[in-house]
Amino acid sequence: MRHLLSAGDLTLDEATLVLDTAKELAQVGGRSVKKLPTLRGRTVVNLFYEDSTRTRISFEAAAKRMSADVINFSAKGSSVSKGESLKDTALTLQAMGADGVVIRHSASGAAHRLAEWVDGAVVNAGDGTHEHPTQALLDAYTIRERMGRLDGLRVAVVGDIRHSRVARSNVLLLNTLGAEVTLVAPPTLLPVSVRTWPCSVSYDLDEVLPKSDVVMMLRVQAERMNAAFFPTAREYSRRYGLDGDRFARMPDHAIVMHPGPMIRGMEISAEVADSPRSTIVEQVANGVSVRMAVLYLLLSGSGSGTGN
Ligand code: NCD
Repeated sequence: MRHLLSAGDLTLDEATLVLDTAKELAQVGGRSVKKLPTLRGRTVVNLFYEDSTRTRISFEAAAKRMSADVINFSAKGSSVSKGESLKDTALTLQAMGADGVVIRHSASGAAHRLAEWVDGAVVNAGDGTHEHPTQALLDAYTIRERMGRLDGLRVAVVGDIRHSRVARSNVLLLNTLGAEVTLVAPPTLLPVSVRTWPCSVSYDLDEVLPKSDVVMMLRVQAERMNAAFFPTAREYSRRYGLDGDRFARMPDHAIVMHPGPMIRGMEISAEVADSPRSTIVEQVANGVSVRMAVLYLLLSGSGSGTGN
């Protein structure tokens, strides 16, 4: 594996290796000195063209815990605001000797393009509405920790599938790992291509909930919408929101997930988000371990860096 661009690029063995490596690296997070020398002398650039809280901080913490040098680049305050192209920015990074570049960009396909221009490993941290593979890996890790397995589990992914890179990456990865995914959304919030995805589709949350081991709620991504996709927020919430009553209809062992940022009262009620069966905070902690594993597997080999 040279880059991590799409969750669909991972074989079952590769995905399992990332999860197992993350499990080992997670122990570092429990120590008082949270540092390994593994990536000493390597440089990781975080290239964030889109807003992010969790993902950016998580990649930074992951790289630092393994002693890599981290350069944070955000489009605001850089020459991007002067109209510099992604290619010219990439060539600058290349000239500075970045061993790894983590990129978030509003254009689908940006990470793939970048991988053509730089020698270092590229990690896709979210490209438009396309993919977000490390989110899917941390979600799979969280499910495996809570449920003990992934194979044969029934996972419902609920909400704005159409604009969600998290949904696509999760469908691809969970399918590889043997879980059965059902997407639940109003027809207007499903992408046209969904028929070719390896999952089933339902418009009826109440029908799917009692049959689910994992329920993953997604945010309605208003910033990506240029039209009205549902009548009102209240109507959306009534049909597709996870409130206490719906939560009570889930099997007792089932867990609730959300990649964040969540809109309490819209897709999820505060009581459900804060319940012990919600994994939302764990997902953030697991994100650091999973990103450590990804950076370790991509950068620790002899292929890049000065190698000492
Ligand atoms: C998601 C994203 O940015 O794609 N969040 C995340 O990475 N934790 C989902 C979202 O923005 O709703």
